[in-house]
Amino acid sequence: MANLKVEFSGLKLENPVMPAAGPPVKDFTAAKRAKAGGAGALVTKTISTTAAKVPRPNMARTESGFLNTELWAEQTPEHWLQEEYPKIKELGLPVIAGIGYTKDQIRKLARKVEKYADALELSTHYLGDDSTPMEESIKAAKEEVDIPVYVKLSPGIDIPQFSKAAEKAGADGIVLINSFGPTLDIDPETGKPLMGSEDGFGWLSGEAIFPLALRAVYQAANSVDIPVIGVGGIDSGLKAAKMFMVGASAVQVCTEAIVNGPRVYGKIVNELNKFLDEHGYESVNDIKGLTAKVVSEEAEYETVVPTVIEKNCTTCGLCITSCVYDAITLDDSKDYIVIDSEKCAGCGLCITRCNFGALKLE
Ligand SMILES: Cc1cc2nc3c(=O)[nH]c(=O)nc-3n(C[C@H](O)[C@H](O)[C@H](O)COP(=O)(O)O)c2cc1C
Repeated sequence: MANLKVEFSGLKLENPVMPAAGPPVKDFTAAKRAKAGGAGALVTKTISTTAAKVPRPNMARTESGFLNTELWAEQTPEHWLQEEYPKIKELGLPVIAGIGYTKDQIRKLARKVEKYADALELSTHYLGDDSTPMEESIKAAKEEVDIPVYVKLSPGIDIPQFSKAAEKAGADGIVLINSFGPTLDIDPETGKPLMGSEDGFGWLSGEAIFPLALRAVYQAANSVDIPVIGVGGIDSGLKAAKMFMVGASAVQVCTEAIVNGPRVYGKIVNELNKFLDEHGYESVNDIKGLTAKVVSEEAEYETVVPTVIEKNCTTCGLCITSCVYDAITLDDSKDYIVIDSEKCAGCGLCITRCNFGALKLE
């Protein structure tokens, strides 16, 4: 059993998997379920100075990803302060309270929420692509509270610039990424947008944004010295492990918990543990920042023909179908595929297309 405990800016977590701000932490009942499902900390749904008026419909599972047009919490801050936060605090897990957005709104909320939280997470979703409003919100929060202040960044901004600006403004950690957008999907029967927002646009999350999140976390972690929490498309222990490899100190999960319920936190924790054990790592810290150590400083141009691991090949033919260079064939006399090194361009696709580990780069 690998050591899954993590500690950052004074927060001690038994495991590094927590919910991200969203419906799975929309109130005390949901937070209680997240704890029962194995979360190592509780992030709460972003609240603001007023209750959000959210269009309907506002969530859709599509074949290309998950769309939403939720805003922040639909309850008032007074309701959260009286009904939700006190009970969530009682659950006993570290609580990271999501609040938003402008410096004036943060000033009105931060100190009141501090009593029930171990850290604040400032969402910057509606603050635009100039980092000044974000910096002002961080400074406002830092002036109001003594607990750590994390700032949550949206994709589509200059991640290194925003990360450095956040650190300079006093942030104790960075959380990224929020959902990506605007995006659009429609009902093929009517042509009508799936989201009930004014323009029909929504925000994309889930597996479709994982590579975007991984790149953003990698850039942030290599731009600042404060902890970075990775979120975006994590639905397995393997993806959580990848987030640590690019420099995350912990991970958050939203869409997977919406779609498959709160038990996903424990599932991801178990899979992460299995991955670490199988690879001989003793703790998540052993893989943290691995990518930065092995990334090549220069682009690679040499064509390397993949090696076929004959015993693993099932002759399923997936690699043959996908080989745009017609370099892979099945020879009736063999029970494995053959690669023509003259035709192979070394693009690497077949390695990722194979489900059986039958191809690798030496
Ligand atoms: C329905 C829905 C509601 C969300 N609400 C919030 C929110 O209130 N505050 C926030 O900072 N992010 C919010 N998010 C963004 C998520 O916390 C998360 O950053 C994003 O969805 C990427 O992670 P995922 O792919 O695991 O969902 C929401 C996402 C979804 C899908």
